[in-house]
Amino acid sequence: MASDDLAALLDWYGHMGVDEAILDAPVDRFRAAPPPVRPADAARGAAHATRPVPGARRPPPAGLTARPPSPAPSRPQARFAPSAPDEAVMAARAEADGAGDLAALEAALARFEGCALKATARNLCFYRGAPKARLMLIGEAPGRDEDLQGKPFVGRAGQLLDRMLAAIDLGEADVHITNIVYWRPPGNRTPTPQEALACRPFLERQIALVAPEIVLLLGGAAAKQIFDTRDGIMRLRGKWRTLEMGGRRLRAMATLHPAYLLRTPIAKRHAWRDLLAVRAALDAGAQEG
Ligand code: URA
Repeated sequence: MASDDLAALLDWYGHMGVDEAILDAPVDRFRAAPPPVRPADAARGAAHATRPVPGARRPPPAGLTARPPSPAPSRPQARFAPSAPDEAVMAARAEADGAGDLAALEAALARFEGCALKATARNLCFYRGAPKARLMLIGEAPGRDEDLQGKPFVGRAGQLLDRMLAAIDLGEADVHITNIVYWRPPGNRTPTPQEALACRPFLERQIALVAPEIVLLLGGAAAKQIFDTRDGIMRLRGKWRTLEMGGRRLRAMATLHPAYLLRTPIAKRHAWRDLLAVRAALDAGAQEG
């Protein structure tokens, strides 16, 4: 490969979030395991191996080394069927609804093959904080630090989130923090609606198990997905809504994402107003207002 092509490939990897080697040898995670060999085929294959096949590649003459024959070009099969989102959602619901506690729900997520993000992520990021909490925070998707540590909001945005929560007298033991998807999207892109929908039954079950009174949605992607709207975050933020999710009626509000606040510190005053509203609702017992 020419050095320009190689540089372009590495650049593209960087943009896709492939920014470090995990193993010594590459692994093609999209390649399906070879289909099991039936005994009859194996026997036929052995017979072929001993008989020269007309037109088949001959072994090189002694003294010459040949490159190992490349495998016949075949279309790589995805482990995840991108064309069957409904099946993924149905499988997710069946798995999620059977989970009696958060540990069972995490185990079900670890088994789940219906969200394509799992193929490129290193770790499942389930939740951080208390298993039961009056306040549940839901963000967009794990990033690089979260993928490495297997926990939501542990990078710079998460550290700012912790400081914001501390400002209204809440610590990790008081809240339950998660995302609308449980695996890092490549290159930190926004999760697609299909990816979020495949994870949604797990999120609904998580809400049922955590039993929060208030849900705070962090950023436009989470707010649009959960409120099922195309409105932008500036229009959505700071307003209470009633949410029916996980068999519960909850008070929910959207606010600005801490990663956005890192880039746009002047917007912190809006987030501060939202957090004060959350604090007041917690103090008032989260009755509907
Ligand atoms: N941004 C998110 O939305 N979630 C995380 O877990 C980290 C960053």
